[in-house]
Amino acid sequence: MFNYKKYYLFFSMVLLLSFSFACSEAQEIIKEVPVEVIKEVPVEVVKEVQVEVEKVVEVDKIKEVPVEVIKEVEVIKEVQVEKVVKEVLEIEKPAGKLVVYSGRKESLVGPIIEQFQSMTGIEVEVNYGTSTEIASQLMLEGDKSPADVFYAQDPGAVGSVVDMLAPLSVDILEPIPDWAKSDQGKWVGVTGRARVLVYNTDNVSPDDLPLTLNGLCDEKWKGRMGWAPTNSSFQTMVTGMRQIWGEEKTKEWIECMIANEVAVYPKNTPQVEAAGKSEIDIGLVNHYYLYKFVLDAGEGDQFKARNHHLLGGGPGSLVMVSPVAILSTSENKSNAEQFVTFMTSKIAQNYFVNNIREYPLIEGVKTHPLITPMGDIKQPDINLSELADIEGSAKLLQEAGALPK
Ligand SMILES: [Fe+2]
Repeated sequence: MFNYKKYYLFFSMVLLLSFSFACSEAQEIIKEVPVEVIKEVPVEVVKEVQVEVEKVVEVDKIKEVPVEVIKEVEVIKEVQVEKVVKEVLEIEKPAGKLVVYSGRKESLVGPIIEQFQSMTGIEVEVNYGTSTEIASQLMLEGDKSPADVFYAQDPGAVGSVVDMLAPLSVDILEPIPDWAKSDQGKWVGVTGRARVLVYNTDNVSPDDLPLTLNGLCDEKWKGRMGWAPTNSSFQTMVTGMRQIWGEEKTKEWIECMIANEVAVYPKNTPQVEAAGKSEIDIGLVNHYYLYKFVLDAGEGDQFKARNHHLLGGGPGSLVMVSPVAILSTSENKSNAEQFVTFMTSKIAQNYFVNNIREYPLIEGVKTHPLITPMGDIKQPDINLSELADIEGSAKLLQEAGALPK
């Protein structure tokens, strides 16, 4: 008889074995496949995802950026247009030019005029000469003169052409003290230059020096002095003497100086040098020449000369100003006003104080400690506007024998 139970048992065993075998195969597959999948798929996915992400971002940028760029480009264009418009306007309306007639030497004022030019863009043409020559040239040219500005060594030269000058604005006049500007508001002083005696420190004690110019007529100074009668500052001092002392007394003083064998020098610097070398014991000069040697050349105490401000005041203590004025016929008035404003600004005042050792005429600019403060100078009570008659002084110097006729 067919034993079903045995067959059933046999097939069950076979099935069980087959299933076990199959399961062990399946486990191996499960083990392997995930490893393969993990090894390969994530790498693929990561690579792909990154690429996709980048692509997506790029696509986003491409979509958005052009809008931004277009906006920005439009803004840049507007700015450029503004610049171009400004440039065009500037080209249409340039800073222009300015013609300066300067009675002050190029070596003194050239650098500060150049600074004005580079700061403003104004093209400055400078005609240099002596202040007297320039005054004569202006008189000759009359209202056809191309000059916009007259910058002189002393008020005398400017005063001689005062009718050709334009009144200055209140803004220009206001910072300058009354004594250092035109009583008609037609010029302002840029800097102050004090008349002094320069003396040799080995041979002269300051106590020996006279109180006023009159004392120089003393016999004790015979053959020990120098002067420069052609110098315009000296002639301005003589003009002051004529105003304070009168013609006769001034002529007498000139004559007594000649009688005291005063040595003639062409200008101030050689007199100061001569005083330093004991060639003379006293010279009649402006204060700032000494500092060329003592400060600027660094000679200090080795240089045996110093300045003396006459304690008794009078014309020998005159402080002259280098005036600047605008011609009434100027075709560049606005530039001329800028120039005058600049010359009385702290920038220019500091330049003159530190480079030429002249006195500033505005508040807040300090001089070197070696230089006598302006407040200590016994300035004569004199109207600088009335020191115009330099011709009269030259004539008197001729008559007294100080200048050839
Ligand atoms: Fe000078």
